Amino acid sequence: MGRLVIVSNRAPSIDGSTDSGGLVVALKDALGKGGGLWIGGAPEQQEAPSDSIVWHDRRDFSVGLVEWEPELYRDFYLGYCNSVLWPAFHGRVDLIDVQGRYAEAYATVNKRLARMIAQNLREDDQIWVHDYQLIPLAQELKALRVRNRIGFFLHVPLPDLHTFMAIPDWQNVARWFSAYDLVGFQTSRDLRHMINIFQHGLRGELRANGNIGIDGREVALGAFPISIDVEGFREFAVKGAAGTAPAPLPRLIGVDRLDYSKGLPQRLAGYGEFLEKYPGYRSNVSLLQIAPPTRNSVNAYKAIRAELEHLAGRINGRFGTVEWTPVQYLHRALTREELAVLFRYSRVGLVTPLFDGMNLVAKEYVAAQDEDDPGVLILSQFAGAAEEMSEALIVNPHDASDIAETIKTALDMPLSERIERHDALYRKLKKHDVTYWTSSFLKRLSPSPVSVLPYHRAI
Ligand code: ADP
Ligand code: F6P
Repeated sequence: MGRLVIVSNRAPSIDGSTDSGGLVVALKDALGKGGGLWIGGAPEQQEAPSDSIVWHDRRDFSVGLVEWEPELYRDFYLGYCNSVLWPAFHGRVDLIDVQGRYAEAYATVNKRLARMIAQNLREDDQIWVHDYQLIPLAQELKALRVRNRIGFFLHVPLPDLHTFMAIPDWQNVARWFSAYDLVGFQTSRDLRHMINIFQHGLRGELRANGNIGIDGREVALGAFPISIDVEGFREFAVKGAAGTAPAPLPRLIGVDRLDYSKGLPQRLAGYGEFLEKYPGYRSNVSLLQIAPPTRNSVNAYKAIRAELEHLAGRINGRFGTVEWTPVQYLHRALTREELAVLFRYSRVGLVTPLFDGMNLVAKEYVAAQDEDDPGVLILSQFAGAAEEMSEALIVNPHDASDIAETIKTALDMPLSERIERHDALYRKLKKHDVTYWTSSFLKRLSPSPVSVLPYHRAI
């Protein structure tokens, strides 16, 4: 049986110490099965790029680390990835920053990475490439005469054709997708967008089997909603809660990277309107927003940080008292164990992105709840998760009044309704967890797929 070769911008830890993130847990059985490989960047160690992969053998699979020159990596990661593709894919074409060197760096990183990967491949390996940082990789590998099957999964949303066309040289970007054997998306929304981009942007032909014929070859497409390690996360919550006290007031919680796509200012505006309209809740509820900064040196990220601090300060100034702070705002990352307990002890989970591929926080919040006294998930209609999680309270994140009213509904919801909604959501999560996601993608990628055992968390 062939090996599975995973490629992603960030490599997993070389000692397994941070494996609880979901993707690693899901993939390590598939990787371990046939001596699999996971190749990815080690950006924090940008020192001596060697143009070859540095291998570290774990017990379950091998991690291949790749290093880049700091300037090249900056133009690739902060530049093309997060100042061109990220804003475009999240519908923020106003934030696209076009610089020739960004596109060059993106092309260079993908080309060099393809060369390094090709040197390490065996004939029957299957390659699974992850996310928007590496879209051109299949085209580059095929140019090196790599004949292995190559799949790609896009973790972020894919916008409609009109928005996609804001990316300079967008037809070329669309062609990169078409070089894969299988391209997976989070939702049927994104899948529809891809089909439309191929059909109307590149004159691709939709075949009866759902594949797209393009430039004389055929690419398979599918929606594979990603999920989490449901049992593992629930265990963190149950164990952690056993030794901790619940929050003194009913708590609303938001946990997001500090990204403009997450709708954080709109969320605070909604909470502010709720406190304005329902004074009875003042001093009787609190909002904990955890938002660690990312991609710091991109201007749009600096701006969102300043805006959020200003808004939180305004709400606290307007409604706060000596005894009560309406918004608690933390800028740092917590461990998964800590997060799970905070979720369990929060009456409302606020997940209100303006556009999101899936949003795993929504799933983590549900997994962490006490089934006998569960909290309520408020979920944006624009999160990919909303396609599956219809029993959440669905909101329009742009509409502060909708958020305010929905917070009230969530806080007032009777126990029986909370249990009913949570039960329906939790069942779906259990059925379609991250192992299901991995195996359904890999089954489609190959007629004789790399087999995936049920996952075992401990390594
Ligand atoms: P994205 O991939 O855009 O960041 P997701 O919601 O899909 O958004 O995934 C975010 C992941 O990062 C989740 O697993 C979440 O628990 C984790 N995360 C977000 N904020 C924090 C934080 N402050 N501390 C620790 N983990 C965090
Ligand atoms: O979900 C999109 C994504 O870019 C992932 O690829 C990544 O793991 C996560 O967001 C965090 O982003 P970054 O790796 O840029 O910190």
